[in-house]
Amino acid sequence: MSNSDTLFRPAKLGQLELPNRIVMAPMTRTASPGNVPNDMVVEYYRRRAAGGTGLIITEGTCINHKAANGYENVPFFYGEEALEGWKKVVDAVHAEGGKIAPQLWHVGAIRRPGTEPDKDVPGYSPSGMAKAGKVTGHAMTKEDIADVVAAFAQGAKDAKAIGMDAIEIHGAHGYLIDQFFWEGSNQRDDEYGGSLENRSRFAIEIIKACREAVGPDFPIILRWSQWKQQDYPARLVNNPEELEAFIKPLSDAGVDIFHCSTRRFWEPEFEGSDLNLAGWVKKISGKPTITVGSVSLNADFLPVDGTAMFREAEPASLDNLIQRMEADEFDLVAVGRALIANPDWPKMVQEGRMSEMAAYEKDMLFKLV
Ligand code: FNR
Repeated sequence: MSNSDTLFRPAKLGQLELPNRIVMAPMTRTASPGNVPNDMVVEYYRRRAAGGTGLIITEGTCINHKAANGYENVPFFYGEEALEGWKKVVDAVHAEGGKIAPQLWHVGAIRRPGTEPDKDVPGYSPSGMAKAGKVTGHAMTKEDIADVVAAFAQGAKDAKAIGMDAIEIHGAHGYLIDQFFWEGSNQRDDEYGGSLENRSRFAIEIIKACREAVGPDFPIILRWSQWKQQDYPARLVNNPEELEAFIKPLSDAGVDIFHCSTRRFWEPEFEGSDLNLAGWVKKISGKPTITVGSVSLNADFLPVDGTAMFREAEPASLDNLIQRMEADEFDLVAVGRALIANPDWPKMVQEGRMSEMAAYEKDMLFKLV
């Protein structure tokens, strides 16, 4: 039996000092009318900090670029009103003893046509390929690339200015940065396409620009994944050598913490070892990592591909998670749906009240629970 105390040890990751190892995973709720986080959003995050979550990573919040947003009622991370709203969120989370980082987001090709407020703006992507074989949207020029890099940097600067404790760059799940990473969506023939090194160039420029904007010590988290919205089984890297070639340059560019997004934290990433993705990235980079995926859940989240959203998962054992953390496989664990269903999830774990936990239901997203 493992001891849940492991989850409640404080962590000092560079400048980021956390009361425990539990992170709220970024989750879009489309609950910010006018793209401004309102008092309900403030209360939603305050509630999770009060429930014992050490670090909150906000839902994806759009950088200041006309094509960054793909869904209505997503909060922006620019403009006076939106930043004032976020500042209230920051203050409320801090008052409860939690830490918080915005997830800076550009959706790229996954922009829903007609999304307000700039409904005529098409999806932007590395080479105009939204889905395999189907060319849609706008292939980014070098000027577009420079604009987006600058917008990420401005977001990072503003995050620091309003008192956020770190930033997370959304490089996962088939959104813009991941569209550059992935061969399937990056057909460019200039220095931003082709080799893995070239496909990482956009991300590296963003990381460096953010670093420049926030100074040497402000924590930068990069979230990345093998899976994509558009193609769940897609993979960026197939073995530890490829992973090293991918991760090292990102690490050198200034990432402090890697957030390795997987659906099930207990799944080994490569054959021949039990290490999960966060385990491999920590081993290769020497940097702290965050694991995630079906912690404390009995339903499994699947990509929104028109088929089922959920299916039964193998029981994800908290013991398994704790044993891995004790073995230093990763530093932090992000919890998604279980924290929507149970704002007090950390406290409930600490007090051994697992049997009282509510199961996640999609409707919960739109209500304050
Ligand atoms: C997500 N996820 C997600 N990820 C991300 O990087 N940015 C986002 O804005 C969102 N939005 C989002 C909305 C909803 C409703 C869900 C359920 C998920 C993925 C999320 O951060 C997490 O990786 C997965 O939910 C897996 O963790 P759990 O839920 O199994 O603990």
